Amino acid sequence: MSLARAYTNIAFVKYWGKRDVVQMLPYNSSLSLTLDQFYTETSVEFTDQETDQFVFEGQDQPVSAKISRVLNDVRQIAGSNQHALVKSSNHVPTAAGLASSASAFAALAVAASDAAGLTLSRKALSILARHGSGSASRSIYGGFVLWHAGVDDQSSFAEPIDVNEQVNFPIAVIAILVNQHQKSILSGAGMQASVTTSPYYQDWVKTAEADIQTMSAAIAAQDIEQIGTIAERNALRMHATTLSADPPFTYFAPETLRIWELVRKIRTKGLSCYLTLDAGPNPKLICQLQDVSKIIDFLNAEIPNLTYTLCQPGPGAQLMAQ
Ligand code: PMV
Repeated sequence: MSLARAYTNIAFVKYWGKRDVVQMLPYNSSLSLTLDQFYTETSVEFTDQETDQFVFEGQDQPVSAKISRVLNDVRQIAGSNQHALVKSSNHVPTAAGLASSASAFAALAVAASDAAGLTLSRKALSILARHGSGSASRSIYGGFVLWHAGVDDQSSFAEPIDVNEQVNFPIAVIAILVNQHQKSILSGAGMQASVTTSPYYQDWVKTAEADIQTMSAAIAAQDIEQIGTIAERNALRMHATTLSADPPFTYFAPETLRIWELVRKIRTKGLSCYLTLDAGPNPKLICQLQDVSKIIDFLNAEIPNLTYTLCQPGPGAQLMAQ
């Protein structure tokens, strides 16, 4: 039995759309920060049982096509025909609103390959995780991570920006929970709707590729203001492809727009604070670590009982001792 832990990541330049749905190849490269507050732990054991089995938070669940895909890949590489018992649990601090398939499939890739006796390179693990969920390719690594869009299966993988997977400047991400109940369109369906129906989709791809260049330079310069400026603009452009889809849809909740308005107010006070948002209504604020308490005080004065989790850069996926 092999046990692995992987942390979730938040994209500062988003992945939003597949050029090849079968191979899971994205239209554009994306860039993320792995966070330290939310992780998935997954154990995998290959046995003589008749089918694959998936137990989530202690409950038997159907084995999804995405899980099967990763397990089949592992069996193929290992030349094995054994079935797997997969047990997984999520570790979320008080309602972080950070649930993500990124940590889940990165942990599955690491645990399943080890359980099959494979010693895969991290590049191979990133490709394997990508087959489960695109953003999972980035959670193999810690710190800032770049997922190269690539042109085929073997050239579409993630790499850490810093070889030591460290971030040596005080960046923080405040994950705010505004709404846990809203049902959102799953990211896979949402991005396909943008790809196939938004007239702005190709402009999104162009600007996202340009953002990779400017974001990489801003990270190298440790310029949090520039990082945040690019990330906020990139997130809103991604969301513009949902508003411009046919039929239009959005992940914004009223509270999301309220937080965005407050973020712009916070900036007028001279603080660096920027919003990013994925396929759900819960905003994440990018800021300097030393400004967190001032930002929280400001938000709390406007929104009583604000629920949030303070995140800092987190580590890559790893095998755990059992
Ligand atoms: O990996 P998926 O299929 O859950 O898609 C992730 C999409 C976003 O979270 C919205 C953006 C990203 O790059 O993580």
